[in-house]
Amino acid sequence: MKDNILNIENCKKIAVMGGTFDPIHYGHLAVAEAVRDEFETDRVIFIPAGKPPHKKNINLANNEHRYIMSVLAISSNPYFDVSRIELDRDGITYTVDTITELKQCCDKDAEIFFIIGADAINEIFSWKDFRRLLGICSFVAVTRPGYKKTKLRKMISEINEKFDSKIYPLEVPALAISSSQIRDKIKTNSSIKYLVPDDVEAYIKKYSLYKYDEANTEQISCKLKKILTRNRFIHTQGVAKEAVRLARHYNSDTYKAYTAGLLHDCAKDYSAEEKRRLCASYKIKIDDIIEKQIDLVHSFLGAALCKKEYGIKDKDIINAVKYHTTGRADMSELEKIIYLADCIEPNRKQHDGLEKTRHLAYTDLNLAMKYNLELTIKHNENKGRMIHPLSIEALNYFKNLTEEDN
Ligand SMILES: [Fe+2]
Ligand SMILES: [Fe+2]
Repeated sequence: MKDNILNIENCKKIAVMGGTFDPIHYGHLAVAEAVRDEFETDRVIFIPAGKPPHKKNINLANNEHRYIMSVLAISSNPYFDVSRIELDRDGITYTVDTITELKQCCDKDAEIFFIIGADAINEIFSWKDFRRLLGICSFVAVTRPGYKKTKLRKMISEINEKFDSKIYPLEVPALAISSSQIRDKIKTNSSIKYLVPDDVEAYIKKYSLYKYDEANTEQISCKLKKILTRNRFIHTQGVAKEAVRLARHYNSDTYKAYTAGLLHDCAKDYSAEEKRRLCASYKIKIDDIIEKQIDLVHSFLGAALCKKEYGIKDKDIINAVKYHTTGRADMSELEKIIYLADCIEPNRKQHDGLEKTRHLAYTDLNLAMKYNLELTIKHNENKGRMIHPLSIEALNYFKNLTEEDN
């Protein structure tokens, strides 16, 4: 194991940066550099976690990918190294074992600074052999500016006094980056430039890391670009992005929102004749109302195409496409998000009620649904169109729901 950790034999101060690094990003690098600078450590050793005990159920990228990305990320900093110490250990990895192993590789007087998020200080007491751990290394508790410093300092000095430990607080400039945010961006085809080093970005791309398995949204986008009109394609992109914003706002699944947003109008630009032909082949019933307004069928047909043509298996995504025009009673959160994203995406032309719908969509999904269904139904009645029974059911449902709430 010793030869895996570079250049620490003669070091007096060594910082240790643990993490899953799934993927490693500029936030990790900035924290490590700030600690090196402040505590004048000779090295910072990044240790990608093997199987950490507190994250048993997460699906980590392959160990080798995380290791290689870490090596790529630190390559230009002469003070940084990456160790395989945890990756090469079988079973669950505990910090106390890692630090013990590390100490065997360096000068016996060397001081080790283990970097930890200030939020995790309280958790130390649940770590394996925490008393011994507090005795064999120092800790740097990093915080972002604005963190309640006085409370933290008080807590740290109490722990230090009680356990004779050395925990130091350190404020590091805020870099609002997280690995989960980066994975989320990749799944929804958003840019990760300037969040991770260029080499890491290229590596993620090369091996298609963090893509959702069920469907490749890039392929869906390419296909839609070919079959939709230019304006419809722009609208579709707008809906997908608006749906992601809403999903983030409501802590919902952004990948599903993005995919359903992309696909919601996939059947819209077929001619009336083609729509009828496709409905016949997918056994979609054309009722009297749809017969008179054949365009309405694009959402039901779109749902069938999602399954047959775009390989979507997720029922919620399929239903979000299916009910994005009519709505229905008891819609799922994703169904409401797609319905509303379709109404409020930024390319929509200004009309009465648009700004209010936008505001309500980010305040209360049910109120937004009620308001928009009323608006749409009134608009269609004024135009002499028949109203689909699903929309009437939906309006009654949301009316009852929002009245009950009040
Ligand atoms: Fe539509
Ligand atoms: Fe649409």
